[in-house]
Amino acid sequence: AVERTLSIIKPDAVAKNVIGEIYSRFEKAGLNIIAARMLHLSKEQAGEFYAVHRERPFYNELVEFMTSGPVMVQVLEGDEAIAKNREVMGATNPAEAAPGTIRADFAKTVDENAVHGSDAPETARAEIAFFFNDDEICPRTR
Ligand code: CMP
Repeated sequence: AVERTLSIIKPDAVAKNVIGEIYSRFEKAGLNIIAARMLHLSKEQAGEFYAVHRERPFYNELVEFMTSGPVMVQVLEGDEAIAKNREVMGATNPAEAAPGTIRADFAKTVDENAVHGSDAPETARAEIAFFFNDDEICPRTR
């Protein structure tokens, strides 16, 4: 089924100048970019986006890192987009990410792991709404 998922290119990957290379991976996997925005998250925004991790030991570092520079946020659409994006990203910990995945190629640590992707349809809906209004999403017409 056609799905939408929220993708973030994190500050480490933006700093490495690999936005284009990461976009290529999405496109080659058949994921259409149907919304995109660059922004520098505030502590408040990053804290709210990652609220589910509030009790985790890595929460403060995660918020620090996600606010350390600009991020590129996009909505990806395609067949099984949520799972497909997770495949293209590779495992959360780059040390465990399959060869040829974004995290294997562009990330070094679990804290600075280049990309985020929604993990399920419910979270995808919530995460897309966190960053984009409906009129900022541009589904393909051709
Ligand atoms: P992300 O998909 O953005 O969701 C939460 C982030 O927390 C995760 O990617 C990692 O970058 C980061 N993180 C740091 N330590 C851990 C950990 N032990 N388990 C899961 N995520 C972690």
